Formats: sequence, C-alpha cells, structure tokens
Amino acid sequence: MSTVALGLPTTPSDRAEPTDAPTTGPLRDRFGRVAADLRVSVTDRCNLRCTYCMPAEGLDWLPTDAVLTTDELIRVMTVGVRDLGIRSIRFTGGEPLLRRDLEDLIAAMSARPERPEIAMTTNGLGLARRMDGLVAAGLDRVNISLDTVDATRFAEITRRDRLHDVLAGLAAARSSGLSSVKVNAVLADHTDLGGLPELARYCLDHGYQLRIIEQMPLDADHRWDRASMVTADEILAVLRDHFPLRPDPRPRGSAPAATWLVDGFHVDGAPARIGVIASVTRPFCGDCDRTRLTADGALRNCLFAQGETDLRNVLRSGLTGQDLDDALARRWRGNTWVKSAGHGVNDPGFLQPSRPMSAIGG
Ligand code: 5AD
Ligand code: SF4
Repeated sequence: MSTVALGLPTTPSDRAEPTDAPTTGPLRDRFGRVAADLRVSVTDRCNLRCTYCMPAEGLDWLPTDAVLTTDELIRVMTVGVRDLGIRSIRFTGGEPLLRRDLEDLIAAMSARPERPEIAMTTNGLGLARRMDGLVAAGLDRVNISLDTVDATRFAEITRRDRLHDVLAGLAAARSSGLSSVKVNAVLADHTDLGGLPELARYCLDHGYQLRIIEQMPLDADHRWDRASMVTADEILAVLRDHFPLRPDPRPRGSAPAATWLVDGFHVDGAPARIGVIASVTRPFCGDCDRTRLTADGALRNCLFAQGETDLRNVLRSGLTGQDLDDALARRWRGNTWVKSAGHGVNDPGFLQPSRPMSAIGG
C-alpha cells in the first residue's frame, strides 16, 4: 500500500517512497550496504552552546508535541531491532540526558530478545548522577564530548563554565564498569591543536579512548569552511610529536575512527588507543551502516541527506498493531534504499543539510 492509499499526510521534506525498495529483510541500499546501527536523537535541546554547533542564544527548539513520546520511540526502535536487523542503538541529542525517560528507553531495548548493543553520546553534564541508573537499565557504552581540558578554553568553546561537571561524568562512567569510555573531541580551530597533547594525556592517564573528529559542515551558523578546518593529518602530526603511535592491527570494519596504539599506555591491561575520524578528508561512506531517527520522528539515511522520511505522521495516523509496524518498516526500508553513495562534502555542488548537527544527532 502506498502512502497515498494510507491517507497519510506528507511534509515538504518528506520524500516519496521508492517503488523498487525491498519489502522484506534488513535495511539495504542500492549500493549493497546494510544499515544495522541506529542513531536516535531523543531531543534537539542542549545545555551547552558549543560555538561550532549552535549560536549563543540556542536554536528554535522543536515544540514538545512535535517530539516523539516514550512509547512512540519504543515502537519505532522495536520495529528496527525485531524486523529490520538493527543490532546497535546509540542515543544522542542535542543532549540525550535532558530527557528524563532515557533510562526507560534503554531498559525497553535491553529487555528485547534481540538485545541490541546500547550506547549513548552525551556532553557529560549531569551524567555522574545518572550513571548507575543508566547502567542498570542496560547501557553498554558511552561517548562523552570533550574538546579541551583547559577550563578557560572549555568555557569559550561551550559558552558555559562546566568543565568540572564533564570530568565528573567521565570519572563516573569509568568507575561504573562500562566496557568502553570514549571521549569525542572536535577541534574548533587551529589554536586547539596546542591543547591537544594535554587532552590526549588526560585521556590516556584516565583510561578513556580519545577520538578526534574532523569538524563537518553541520553548524547551525553555516560558518564551516573547508579551507580552515583542522584536518586529520594535522591532528596526527601533533599527536605523533608527543606520543609513540603505532597503527592498530585490529580490523576497522564499519568503525569511522582510524585508531593508533599508544606505546607505554594501557587501559585495563590492553594497549591504549587513540582514534582520528577523518569524516571530511577521508570519508568512510562506503562502509557506512547507519540509519538515523530525529527527535521529531524523521528518518535520515545520512547526516548530510537532503531528504527525510517522516515516521511521526505514520505513528499518529491512527494505524495500530501489525498495520502500524508494517507501515513503519516499509517507510524505513524505502528511506534506506535511496541512501546516496557518499556525503559529497568535498564536491563543488555540496549543500549543507537544513538541520544542524544538534537536530540530527551525532
Ligand atoms: N562536526 C563534527 N562533529 C561535531 N559534533 C558536533 N558538531 C560537529 C561537527 N560540525 C560532535 C560533538 C559530539 C558529537 C555528537 O558530534 O562534539 O561529540
Ligand atoms: Fe550541545 Fe553537542 Fe552541540 Fe555542544 S556540540 S552545543 S554539547 S549538541
């Protein structure tokens, strides 16, 4: 049945369903990739204001009734893991800890017989208080965003004086026994290369795996500039000057980070690693296994997708039971099928998506 036959309204950004998409099986695209890793942005709000992400005054947040409810999110995620082969779920935002039902969402997915791996990307504020509850609910892994360990620079980048909170969150994550605690760092400009060795040493000393991410054109202000961004090569050159790095012999698979072993440092008895995510200068789109759901219920097959598929209108269409699940699955397969081969950031005609990173989820 088509969307029209269902009588479902479509939004301007809502793409038509492809007629040649598979109707059974996992989430495949025309290039043979299978999406098994779901990123769920549970809110577009954030309690930091990172300069490379959003303006000081914040953004026009989604109205509350536009955001998927706990039950709606669970419904969509259940279809994903039960019917579409989703094997891992990462909760993101905005800042996912701003949702009070995060533990319920995690618990619902960890109780599934398919038991996806469950991770979260957070800025760490308030994490220390919630860590035990999150782990009890079933959280397996956490990535915490931290760009510097210099309190003054932290306050400049995030426009909030909260470094101590983030460090407390990191410490709580490490002592909670999670299998991995990763730090995501974005270098806002070249001056931040100066603080990188200190950040790396902090992470190595505390058993956190640092991953430095090339800044992508996803800022709300559209100020990103290819010529002035800090590249993976520049990041690596600074790291090599300060630490003995060896290429990681472990196969990378669909992981975006190229990782290096740091001689002389260990985490829980294993060699310590540092990762660099060269999203712009060495795109890894050919191995991408991601599918994304925004807080207002839109599917995106890529961070940089120009089109989206609205699931919220399906969830609120009056359909129930199997009919609802079938409609969700069909739209999801259709959204994945039309995924582009690559993000095109380096192409002359590249267009930044209209949603910023905080409204898509990292
Ligand atoms: N490019 C790359 N990473 C970004 N993040 C936020 N904005 C960008 C961007 N433009 C990172 C945050 C966080 C994760 C969700 O995405 O630092 O770690
Ligand atoms: Fe918030 Fe993350 Fe954006 Fe910083 S980068 S303002 S922590 S959503």
